[in-house]
Amino acid sequence: MEFHVYENARAACEAAGVLIAAQITRKGDSVLGLATGSTPIPAYEMLVSWYKRGVIDFDRVRTFNLDEYVGIDEKNPLSYHSFMEEHLFSKVNLRPENVHLPSGRSSLDGVAYDEAIRQAGGIDIQLLGIGRNGHIGFNEPAADFTYGTHVVTLTEDTIEANARFFNSADDVPRQAISMGIGNIMSARCVVLVATGESKANAVYRTIRGPITPEVPASILQLHPCCVILTDREAGKLMTD
Ligand code: GLP
Repeated sequence: MEFHVYENARAACEAAGVLIAAQITRKGDSVLGLATGSTPIPAYEMLVSWYKRGVIDFDRVRTFNLDEYVGIDEKNPLSYHSFMEEHLFSKVNLRPENVHLPSGRSSLDGVAYDEAIRQAGGIDIQLLGIGRNGHIGFNEPAADFTYGTHVVTLTEDTIEANARFFNSADDVPRQAISMGIGNIMSARCVVLVATGESKANAVYRTIRGPITPEVPASILQLHPCCVILTDREAGKLMTD
Protein backbone atom coordinates (compact mmCIF):
# COMPACT_ATOMS: atom_id res chain seq x y z
CA MET A 1 0.00 0.00 0.00
CA GLU A 2 1.40 3.39 -0.97
CA PHE A 3 0.32 6.48 0.93
CA HIS A 4 0.90 10.08 -0.18
CA VAL A 5 -0.19 13.26 1.59
CA TYR A 6 -0.78 16.46 -0.41
CA GLU A 7 -0.92 20.08 0.68
CA ASN A 8 -4.61 20.42 -0.19
CA ALA A 9 -7.62 18.46 -1.40
CA ARG A 10 -7.40 19.64 -4.98
CA ALA A 11 -3.79 18.43 -5.33
CA ALA A 12 -4.65 14.99 -3.87
CA CYS A 13 -7.56 14.57 -6.30
CA GLU A 14 -5.61 15.85 -9.28
CA ALA A 15 -2.88 13.31 -8.47
CA ALA A 16 -5.52 10.60 -8.88
CA GLY A 17 -6.35 12.15 -12.27
CA VAL A 18 -2.66 11.85 -13.21
CA LEU A 19 -2.68 8.11 -12.48
CA ILE A 20 -5.86 7.56 -14.53
CA ALA A 21 -4.51 9.63 -17.43
CA ALA A 22 -1.27 7.62 -17.35
CA GLN A 23 -3.28 4.40 -17.51
CA ILE A 24 -5.20 5.64 -20.58
CA THR A 25 -1.96 6.80 -22.20
CA ARG A 26 -0.33 3.39 -21.76
CA LYS A 27 -3.40 1.39 -22.82
CA GLY A 28 -5.94 3.08 -25.08
CA ASP A 29 -8.69 0.55 -24.36
CA SER A 30 -8.25 0.67 -20.58
CA VAL A 31 -11.12 -0.37 -18.32
CA LEU A 32 -11.69 2.31 -15.68
CA GLY A 33 -13.58 1.76 -12.44
CA LEU A 34 -15.14 5.12 -11.57
CA ALA A 35 -16.46 6.68 -8.38
CA THR A 36 -18.92 9.41 -7.47
CA GLY A 37 -19.05 11.73 -4.46
CA SER A 38 -17.57 15.19 -4.13
CA THR A 39 -13.99 13.93 -3.68
CA PRO A 40 -13.24 12.79 -7.25
CA ILE A 41 -14.62 15.88 -9.02
CA PRO A 42 -11.19 17.57 -9.47
CA ALA A 43 -9.84 14.32 -10.94
CA TYR A 44 -12.62 14.38 -13.55
CA GLU A 45 -11.92 18.06 -14.24
CA MET A 46 -8.29 17.21 -14.96
CA LEU A 47 -9.24 14.35 -17.27
CA VAL A 48 -11.66 16.61 -19.18
CA SER A 49 -9.02 19.30 -19.51
CA TRP A 50 -6.38 16.86 -20.80
CA TYR A 51 -8.93 15.41 -23.23
CA LYS A 52 -9.76 18.89 -24.57
CA ARG A 53 -6.06 19.60 -25.06
CA GLY A 54 -5.59 16.33 -26.96
CA VAL A 55 -3.42 14.69 -24.29
CA ILE A 56 -5.74 11.72 -23.68
CA ASP A 57 -8.38 10.04 -25.84
CA PHE A 58 -11.41 8.15 -24.49
CA ASP A 59 -12.44 6.65 -27.84
CA ARG A 60 -11.60 3.07 -26.82
CA VAL A 61 -11.83 3.45 -23.02
CA ARG A 62 -14.46 1.39 -21.16
CA THR A 63 -15.88 2.49 -17.81
CA PHE A 64 -17.71 0.76 -14.95
CA ASN A 65 -19.06 2.81 -12.08
CA LEU A 66 -18.99 1.55 -8.53
CA ASP A 67 -22.55 2.16 -7.48
CA GLU A 68 -25.96 3.75 -7.89
CA TYR A 69 -28.93 4.44 -5.67
CA VAL A 70 -31.85 2.04 -5.95
CA GLY A 71 -35.28 3.56 -6.44
CA ILE A 72 -34.42 6.85 -8.10
CA ASP A 73 -34.64 7.34 -11.83
CA GLU A 74 -31.38 7.47 -13.81
CA LYS A 75 -32.51 10.85 -15.16
CA ASN A 76 -32.96 12.25 -11.63
CA PRO A 77 -30.24 14.93 -11.21
CA LEU A 78 -29.24 13.25 -7.92
CA SER A 79 -28.62 9.84 -9.50
CA TYR A 80 -25.03 8.74 -10.00
CA HIS A 81 -25.86 8.35 -13.70
CA SER A 82 -26.55 12.10 -13.80
CA PHE A 83 -23.43 12.88 -11.75
CA MET A 84 -21.20 11.02 -14.18
CA GLU A 85 -22.93 12.58 -17.18
CA GLU A 86 -22.36 16.04 -15.75
CA HIS A 87 -18.76 15.63 -14.64
CA LEU A 88 -17.27 13.33 -17.28
CA PHE A 89 -19.40 11.50 -19.84
CA SER A 90 -20.89 14.55 -21.57
CA LYS A 91 -17.47 16.22 -21.77
CA VAL A 92 -15.23 13.56 -23.34
CA ASN A 93 -15.47 11.20 -26.32
CA LEU A 94 -16.47 8.06 -24.41
CA ARG A 95 -18.74 5.89 -26.55
CA PRO A 96 -22.15 5.34 -24.88
CA GLU A 97 -21.84 1.58 -25.38
CA ASN A 98 -18.58 1.61 -23.39
CA VAL A 99 -20.09 3.29 -20.32
CA HIS A 100 -21.59 1.12 -17.57
CA LEU A 101 -23.32 1.80 -14.27
CA PRO A 102 -25.20 -0.71 -12.14
CA SER A 103 -28.97 -0.18 -12.08
CA GLY A 104 -30.56 -2.32 -9.35
CA ARG A 105 -33.89 -2.59 -11.18
CA SER A 106 -33.88 -6.40 -11.02
CA SER A 107 -32.37 -8.91 -8.64
CA LEU A 108 -30.21 -10.25 -11.50
CA ASP A 109 -28.61 -6.90 -12.32
CA GLY A 110 -25.61 -7.52 -10.05
CA VAL A 111 -24.76 -10.82 -11.73
CA ALA A 112 -25.06 -9.22 -15.19
CA TYR A 113 -22.82 -6.34 -14.10
CA ASP A 114 -20.09 -8.67 -12.84
CA GLU A 115 -20.27 -10.59 -16.11
CA ALA A 116 -19.93 -7.37 -18.13
CA ILE A 117 -16.80 -6.46 -16.13
CA ARG A 118 -15.39 -9.94 -16.74
CA GLN A 119 -16.16 -9.73 -20.48
CA ALA A 120 -14.33 -6.40 -20.65
CA GLY A 121 -11.22 -8.13 -19.27
CA GLY A 122 -11.44 -6.79 -15.71
CA ILE A 123 -10.81 -3.32 -14.32
CA ASP A 124 -7.36 -1.84 -14.94
CA ILE A 125 -7.62 1.03 -12.48
CA GLN A 126 -10.29 1.57 -9.83
CA LEU A 127 -10.85 5.05 -8.44
CA LEU A 128 -12.31 5.13 -4.92
CA GLY A 129 -13.50 7.69 -2.41
CA ILE A 130 -14.17 6.60 1.15
CA GLY A 131 -17.09 7.03 3.54
CA ARG A 132 -16.56 8.40 7.06
CA ASN A 133 -17.28 4.88 8.30
CA GLY A 134 -14.69 3.33 5.98
CA HIS A 135 -17.12 2.26 3.27
CA ILE A 136 -15.94 1.95 -0.31
CA GLY A 137 -18.49 2.05 -3.11
CA PHE A 138 -21.54 1.42 -0.95
CA ASN A 139 -19.97 -1.51 0.90
CA GLU A 140 -21.03 -0.58 4.39
CA PRO A 141 -19.45 -1.93 7.60
CA ALA A 142 -20.77 -5.48 7.99
CA ALA A 143 -20.08 -8.87 9.45
CA ASP A 144 -18.59 -10.19 6.18
CA PHE A 145 -16.84 -8.89 3.10
CA THR A 146 -19.06 -8.99 0.02
CA TYR A 147 -17.94 -10.45 -3.27
CA GLY A 148 -19.90 -9.33 -6.33
CA THR A 149 -22.24 -6.49 -7.22
CA HIS A 150 -25.20 -6.50 -4.86
CA VAL A 151 -27.99 -4.41 -3.36
CA VAL A 152 -27.15 -2.84 0.00
CA THR A 153 -29.13 -1.11 2.72
CA LEU A 154 -27.43 2.16 3.59
CA THR A 155 -26.39 2.88 7.17
CA GLU A 156 -27.75 5.88 9.07
CA ASP A 157 -24.26 7.43 8.97
CA THR A 158 -24.15 7.25 5.16
CA ILE A 159 -27.71 8.55 4.82
CA GLU A 160 -26.79 11.50 7.04
CA ALA A 161 -23.51 12.13 5.14
CA ASN A 162 -25.25 12.05 1.75
CA ALA A 163 -28.28 14.12 2.88
CA ARG A 164 -26.39 17.27 1.82
CA PHE A 165 -27.14 16.41 -1.81
CA PHE A 166 -30.89 15.95 -1.15
CA ASN A 167 -33.56 18.22 0.38
CA SER A 168 -33.37 16.27 3.63
CA ALA A 169 -32.17 12.95 5.05
CA ASP A 170 -35.71 11.60 4.50
CA ASP A 171 -35.20 11.97 0.73
CA VAL A 172 -31.99 9.91 0.61
CA PRO A 173 -32.71 6.46 -0.89
CA ARG A 174 -32.40 3.69 1.70
CA GLN A 175 -30.85 1.23 -0.73
CA ALA A 176 -28.14 1.24 -3.36
CA ILE A 177 -26.49 -1.24 -5.71
CA SER A 178 -22.72 -1.49 -5.39
CA MET A 179 -19.80 -3.42 -6.72
CA GLY A 180 -18.65 -5.77 -3.98
CA ILE A 181 -15.31 -5.86 -2.20
CA GLY A 182 -14.39 -8.76 -4.49
CA ASN A 183 -14.89 -6.60 -7.59
CA ILE A 184 -12.74 -3.84 -6.09
CA MET A 185 -9.99 -6.24 -5.01
CA SER A 186 -9.96 -7.75 -8.52
CA ALA A 187 -9.00 -4.42 -10.10
CA ARG A 188 -5.35 -4.42 -11.21
CA CYS A 189 -4.69 -1.13 -9.45
CA VAL A 190 -6.73 0.82 -6.87
CA VAL A 191 -6.45 4.56 -6.21
CA LEU A 192 -8.29 5.81 -3.11
CA VAL A 193 -8.64 9.53 -2.49
CA ALA A 194 -9.68 10.93 0.90
CA THR A 195 -9.91 14.59 1.79
CA GLY A 196 -11.04 16.58 4.81
CA GLU A 197 -10.84 15.99 8.54
CA SER A 198 -14.03 13.90 8.60
CA LYS A 199 -12.14 11.15 6.73
CA ALA A 200 -9.04 11.10 8.99
CA ASN A 201 -10.25 8.29 11.21
CA ALA A 202 -11.35 6.17 8.24
CA VAL A 203 -7.95 6.68 6.57
CA TYR A 204 -6.10 5.69 9.74
CA ARG A 205 -8.21 2.58 10.26
CA THR A 206 -7.88 1.65 6.57
CA ILE A 207 -4.08 1.75 6.63
CA ARG A 208 -3.14 0.95 10.24
CA GLY A 209 -6.14 -0.87 11.66
CA PRO A 210 -6.96 -4.56 11.61
CA ILE A 211 -8.36 -5.94 8.36
CA THR A 212 -12.04 -6.26 9.13
CA PRO A 213 -15.37 -5.98 7.30
CA GLU A 214 -16.29 -3.45 10.00
CA VAL A 215 -13.92 -1.12 8.08
CA PRO A 216 -14.48 -2.30 4.50
CA ALA A 217 -11.55 -0.28 3.07
CA SER A 218 -9.10 -2.07 5.42
CA ILE A 219 -9.03 -5.03 3.02
CA LEU A 220 -7.05 -2.81 0.65
CA GLN A 221 -4.01 -3.58 2.85
CA LEU A 222 -3.97 -6.89 0.97
CA HIS A 223 -4.18 -5.35 -2.51
CA PRO A 224 -0.91 -5.65 -4.47
CA CYS A 225 -1.30 -2.24 -6.14
CA CYS A 226 -3.12 0.24 -3.93
CA VAL A 227 -2.33 3.95 -3.73
CA ILE A 228 -3.95 6.16 -1.09
CA LEU A 229 -3.87 9.91 -1.69
CA THR A 230 -5.00 12.38 0.98
CA ASP A 231 -4.83 16.03 1.86
CA ARG A 232 -3.24 17.08 5.18
CA GLU A 233 -6.54 16.91 7.10
CA ALA A 234 -7.49 13.38 6.02
CA GLY A 235 -3.91 12.18 6.58
CA LYS A 236 -3.43 13.90 9.92
CA LEU A 237 -3.55 10.76 12.11
CA MET A 238 -0.80 9.12 10.04
CA THR A 239 2.00 10.79 11.90
CA ASP A 240 5.04 8.69 11.00
C1 GLP B 1 -20.87 7.80 -1.32
C2 GLP B 1 -20.33 6.92 -2.44
C3 GLP B 1 -18.90 6.54 -2.21
C4 GLP B 1 -18.09 7.76 -1.84
C5 GLP B 1 -18.63 8.35 -0.58
C6 GLP B 1 -17.86 9.57 -0.10
O1 GLP B 1 -21.36 7.07 -0.24
N1 GLP B 1 -21.09 5.73 -2.63
O2 GLP B 1 -18.38 5.93 -3.40
O3 GLP B 1 -16.74 7.42 -1.68
O4 GLP B 1 -19.97 8.75 -0.82
O5 GLP B 1 -18.29 10.72 -0.77
P1 GLP B 1 -17.60 12.11 -0.71
O6 GLP B 1 -16.45 12.04 -1.66
O7 GLP B 1 -18.65 13.08 -1.21
O8 GLP B 1 -17.19 12.36 0.69
